[in-house]
Amino acid sequence: ADIPVITIDGPTASGKGTLAAQAAAALGWHQLDSGLLYRATALAALRQGVAAEDADGLAAVARGLKLRFDGERVLLRHAATPPGQDGEDVADALRQEQVGSLASRISAHGAVRAALNQLQLDFRRLPGLVADGRDMGTVIFPDAGLKVFLTASPAMRAERRYQQLIGKGISASLDALRADLEARDERDRNRAVAPLKPAADAVLLDNSTLGIEESVQQVLSWWAGRR
Ligand code: C5P
Repeated sequence: ADIPVITIDGPTASGKGTLAAQAAAALGWHQLDSGLLYRATALAALRQGVAAEDADGLAAVARGLKLRFDGERVLLRHAATPPGQDGEDVADALRQEQVGSLASRISAHGAVRAALNQLQLDFRRLPGLVADGRDMGTVIFPDAGLKVFLTASPAMRAERRYQQLIGKGISASLDALRADLEARDERDRNRAVAPLKPAADAVLLDNSTLGIEESVQQVLSWWAGRR
């Protein structure tokens, strides 16, 4: 298609979200945080009492998602939302570790992934899209003009997640965070459908030693070099 896309894939807490947001802002493009769609499905499933093993039930939840992104807010409509009113802002609920962890489990079901396919493609609008996740370059936008695979050491990623939580006044254990993050990566890498791996034509960016500013500049200069 003619609508340009930059994909940024990588493991949990590698800094994808921040990098994608800043690159999108610099370019004036749209952004897709695909992890939020899996998280929203997980949250809705928790609330509707659909089990993590029930692939068909979860796919139905994913197909029925009524999500609207409005700046920092993520509005989720559900059965109790009165007609004509905004959905509930679930932005904070989606960031909880428990929801992320369930998202990781349900995202292994092919039926759930298929149910979220079109929703993700719909984010591709002019003037362009920066999409981050696990399979943006490999599965969802295989024709992307630039594919970045972001890495950072587990210790660095656990430390970042820890600082984020502490900064929000949420208590956390560095060891527990690191264990959870490694378990999630393991599951994302080893699943049969859309496993986490760099696309054959992806460029690798290790941001363990780069600041966010430098990472954004690197992505922008790669993009400038491609067009
Ligand atoms: O990136 P984030 O931590 O928000 O994603 C939550 C979970 O959703 C991940 O652990 C991963 O299992 C899943 N996910 C996925 N494919 C994507 C984005 C997220 O499987 N494109």
